[in-house]
Amino acid sequence: MTHSFDKSYWDQAWDGERAPMMSSGDANPHLVREISGIEPGTALDAGCGAGAEAIWLAGNGWTVTGADVADTALEYAEGRADAAGVGGRIEWVRADLSVWEPETKYDLVTTHYAHPAMAQSAFYDRIASWVAPGGTLLIVGHLHHRRGDSTSHSSAGESGHGHSHPPAEASATADSITNRLDPAVWTIVTAEESQRTMVGPGGRTITIDDVVVRASRRQ
Ligand SMILES: C[S@@+](CC[C@H](N)C(=O)[O-])C[C@H]1O[C@@H](n2cnc3c(N)ncnc32)[C@H](O)[C@@H]1O
Repeated sequence: MTHSFDKSYWDQAWDGERAPMMSSGDANPHLVREISGIEPGTALDAGCGAGAEAIWLAGNGWTVTGADVADTALEYAEGRADAAGVGGRIEWVRADLSVWEPETKYDLVTTHYAHPAMAQSAFYDRIASWVAPGGTLLIVGHLHHRRGDSTSHSSAGESGHGHSHPPAEASATADSITNRLDPAVWTIVTAEESQRTMVGPGGRTITIDDVVVRASRRQ
């Protein structure tokens, strides 16, 4: 069965009791590793979901905009940010990032596994254009591989261990991202493909194949 990754899909994905199942609350380890040494400024988390990364950025001195198409995700994220005492440093924006245009550029634009109902490469082009001169782009996405033609995000193994199988159209490779970043404009800092395990929905251990690209925009 196929479906579109539209607002209705994402609103349902984050609805009610699903929200805490979708996000552990821990910031993505790639974000923590890549951004910890960077002087804080303004940041946009594109497709922020339950806000774990926006909350981490705010707690580390960034002035954050968390943007997502799903009202359910934003409501949940806002409650978590307030509980963490960083709500005042985050503006939550309900926006369809396939058409939205920000009023400003950001010192950091980051995204973690967001895949709107548009080509993944076109989405990355859009968010890259929102980085201010001297700023940073950090993309953390699902790694594309041959098994990635499933329409589900994970499959259970026999021992309760699952392997994430994102849909092919929602995934990328490091080369497919860096090849679109004009070397006259961008310096590639990180371009890696890696695997990690994490505790997913229902306490099940899942293996995730990630692609991580960090690039600095020249002045
Ligand atoms: C797989 S979730 C990842 C959420 C979060 N970044 C994380 O890592 O936990 C993808 C997110 O992208 C958001 N999203 C999908 N399409 C979008 C669009 N067109 N505009 C804004 N956000 C979108 C979804 O609502 C969802 O919160």
